[in-house]
Amino acid sequence: MLLKVFAALSFALASLATSLPADLPPFNSSLFKDLNVTRGLVYHYYASPADAGKPTLVFLHGFPSTFYDWRHQVSFFQDKGYGLIVPDMLGYVGTAKPLDPEAYASSLISKDIIDILDAEGVHQSILIGHDWGAKIASRLANYFPQYFSSYAFLAVGYVAPDTFALPYQEQNNASRAVLGYENFGYWDFFSTEGADQVISDNLDSFFDVFFPKDTVLSIKDVAPLGALSDFLRNDRRTTPGDFVTPEERAIQMALLSQGGFAAPLNWYKILTTSIERDDNQGIPSENVVLKKPVFFGAALRDYLALAATFIASTLQNSNDTLTIQQYDSGHWVMLEVKDKLNADLLQWIEGLN
Ligand SMILES: *[C@@H]1O[C@H](CO)[C@@H](O)[C@H](O)[C@H]1NC(C)=O
Ligand SMILES: *[C@@H]1O[C@H](CO)[C@@H](O)[C@H](O)[C@H]1NC(C)=O
Ligand SMILES: *[C@@H]1O[C@H](CO)[C@@H](O)[C@H](O)[C@H]1NC(C)=O
Ligand SMILES: *[C@@H]1O[C@H](CO)[C@@H](O)[C@H](O)[C@H]1NC(C)=O
Repeated sequence: MLLKVFAALSFALASLATSLPADLPPFNSSLFKDLNVTRGLVYHYYASPADAGKPTLVFLHGFPSTFYDWRHQVSFFQDKGYGLIVPDMLGYVGTAKPLDPEAYASSLISKDIIDILDAEGVHQSILIGHDWGAKIASRLANYFPQYFSSYAFLAVGYVAPDTFALPYQEQNNASRAVLGYENFGYWDFFSTEGADQVISDNLDSFFDVFFPKDTVLSIKDVAPLGALSDFLRNDRRTTPGDFVTPEERAIQMALLSQGGFAAPLNWYKILTTSIERDDNQGIPSENVVLKKPVFFGAALRDYLALAATFIASTLQNSNDTLTIQQYDSGHWVMLEVKDKLNADLLQWIEGLN
């Protein structure tokens, strides 16, 4: 009997994690599109047209994320008549999921985003990126500055071409010398064969530790070499942050589970091999310093993407007005401090020109 109840309960939880509502407000389901970009990969994206006289905002998500992470910004700016373009980045949900890490070179992904903007006839927009989306925003600024009037970086600031210039093992040694642990030791696990299955098999553990209430936890349970692998393989749990409701968490899990994690982990494999470093050789040196207005929303309780590091790199590479807002937040500023961030972004956008 007990077993039966337990089985029924597990089934209910499992179906919650795999079923998606037909509508995901504030996204209007008739405004999603697909585009087969120049290199023959299909991108799925949300495109809400701008009211006359309003600019278009382009939102790029990071890891482990989807278009859905921008729900609070879409709701806020859509109501005000701003145009919105919100893709699923390469490897995620409705977009193609190539398994070859080479496909994830930043220059190639940047060109994909430009193909979407061309298809939408948006030749001037405001670019907003979080996490690895901020890295792509940085590369778009390097390769295609003519498409953008300004850039907003969230949690991860401007990723200068030399940010991850050291070979991965040396980078681990360097951060261990400064911090006492490898700041990006979890990239090693992410680059290991089978890591995607470990994540899928321990999805609650993974979501707990990546969307935690107590972000200090990442210093011992995510960052050091071997730590994240141990945490997941032991299916350890921790209190999740209350900035994601249980319903939203179920939606995130269902979206990310659709395509699995093998493709998204390529965002890390390009950094633990030489792919990213080699690709960055093609960045025009005259575009390394940003010559447009920049907004950086720093997350003071993010212990992986350290606010101080990215404030420094963004400051060093901005040659127009720079607005820095520092939030009492972990990594997910667009969720954790959504109202403050939306208000600050609006004020910044209205003050441009
Ligand atoms: C969704 O978009 C379609 C197409 O533009 C529009 O006709 C419809 O009114 C929108 N729905 C809502 C709820 O805004
Ligand atoms: C996308 O384009 C490529 C060639 O450019 C083609 O091989 C592929 O079948 C297309 N994909 C879809 C889904 O149409
Ligand atoms: C990193 O440090 C370890 C331990 O001190 C050492 O064995 C290794 O050679 C170092 N690797 C690199 C690439 O510097
Ligand atoms: C920064 O801007 C100033 C004035 O517009 C210009 O003289 C200078 O060359 C620029 N520096 C860089 C590194 O682009």
